Amino acid sequence: MANYNTKISEKISKLSDSQIQSLFEAMSKDNQMLSSIIKSLTSGVLIVDTEWNPLFSNKAIDRFILFSTHPDDASTEGLKLYEIVKDKDIAEFFKNCADTNKTNVSEEFSISTSGGQVRFITITITPLVNNDEVAGSIIVVRDITEKRNQEILLHRMESLASLTNLAASVAHEIKNPLGAISIHIQLLQKAIEKARKGDGQLPDEKFVEKYIGVVNEEIDNLNKIVVDFLFAVRPVSANLELIHPNEILAKLLDFLKPEFEKENINLDIELCKNDIRLLLDEKLLREVVVNLSQNAIYAVNENKANISQGTVTVKSFLKDDKYLLEISDNGCGMSEEKLSKIFEPYYTTKATGTGLGLTMVYKIIKEFSGDINVESEENVGTKFIISIPVPQLDKKLLSYEKGEK
Ligand SMILES: Nc1ncnc2c1ncn2[C@@H]1O[C@H](COP(=O)(O)OP(=O)(O)OP(=O)(O)O)[C@@H](O)[C@H]1O
Ligand SMILES: [Mg+2]
Repeated sequence: MANYNTKISEKISKLSDSQIQSLFEAMSKDNQMLSSIIKSLTSGVLIVDTEWNPLFSNKAIDRFILFSTHPDDASTEGLKLYEIVKDKDIAEFFKNCADTNKTNVSEEFSISTSGGQVRFITITITPLVNNDEVAGSIIVVRDITEKRNQEILLHRMESLASLTNLAASVAHEIKNPLGAISIHIQLLQKAIEKARKGDGQLPDEKFVEKYIGVVNEEIDNLNKIVVDFLFAVRPVSANLELIHPNEILAKLLDFLKPEFEKENINLDIELCKNDIRLLLDEKLLREVVVNLSQNAIYAVNENKANISQGTVTVKSFLKDDKYLLEISDNGCGMSEEKLSKIFEPYYTTKATGTGLGLTMVYKIIKEFSGDINVESEENVGTKFIISIPVPQLDKKLLSYEKGEK
């Protein structure tokens, strides 16, 4: 196309008026075709010059990016793209690319549509090359929500596998009360038969009451097993978005600080410097940290006799493509036996505890596709270690930061 245009411009002085006119018509037809192709793309397209002033945008871009002033608007004259993009994270990404002259980069974002739905997008920036020179950048925005949903579905299916194990242990637990009920009913039947055969008198009231009492107790046990099971398997409804955990944690811990001060417990915070984003639900992440903090405060208060100063440490760092969050205390700790039960619904050693705190924490971390581990020693302390995978594209960005490429 470029060669063709150069050849024409060389020969244009030799062309007749009608030849020039038909040439012009053909070229404007091509131009129109090109522009309607870009306009009809389902991906959003934005073109900026080397100064990041918007030059062109197609219709689809409006589905993904909100502008304070639309790029097509004449009043954007002199404004950079990142100055008119409303979404803080996207604007920051553009500004960062402009400041560092970064091209050939991709990043994922989550956006809320006007209908309140969360959608996942990737923004790819490639250089716009014209006559062997970089004339700006081409920004392409693609909707990857379906792909993300597939990943979440896959993760749910993996959770279903662990559900099978849980169901097997429930079946096992149900056996004991059912056995006890069956034995006591058989005993009652035998007593009634014996009475019928004898003097026709029904068995002693006290004897009947005792056996019915056992049956009722076992029915209560069965009920509890079923209720616990339902609580454990009911999914938490998580609204996953790509968010910066450090920002949220810093704010939340600042908010929780007075609770630690009130109990005269030191709160040490060591959050990692990487500005990584994770697929999380902000509200649920808060719930996890609040639950673990409350447990830590309680445990420290239980261990006052063994320590001079209670301390809770919240630490985050990156390790092997995972974001690790550790919450440790120098509280009363737990025996091996206790430790094996803490994630079970309704397991509590506290007079007013519900025993649902850690069950909820476990379920939330699973929704984040993460893991939770605990290390504990009696009278020394406990450490909860949460690990959450870093999404693919942020991983790439991380290696860019490290200069690995
Ligand atoms: N940091 C900790 N140190 C020592 N023991 C702990 C710690 N965290 C939890 N536990 C033990 O695990 C049990 C279960 O914790 P979980 O948060 O599920 O319920 P809870 O704290 O007892 O009740 P609730 O959360 O409703 O207040 C606690 O009762 C406690 O015995
Ligand atoms: Mg608790």
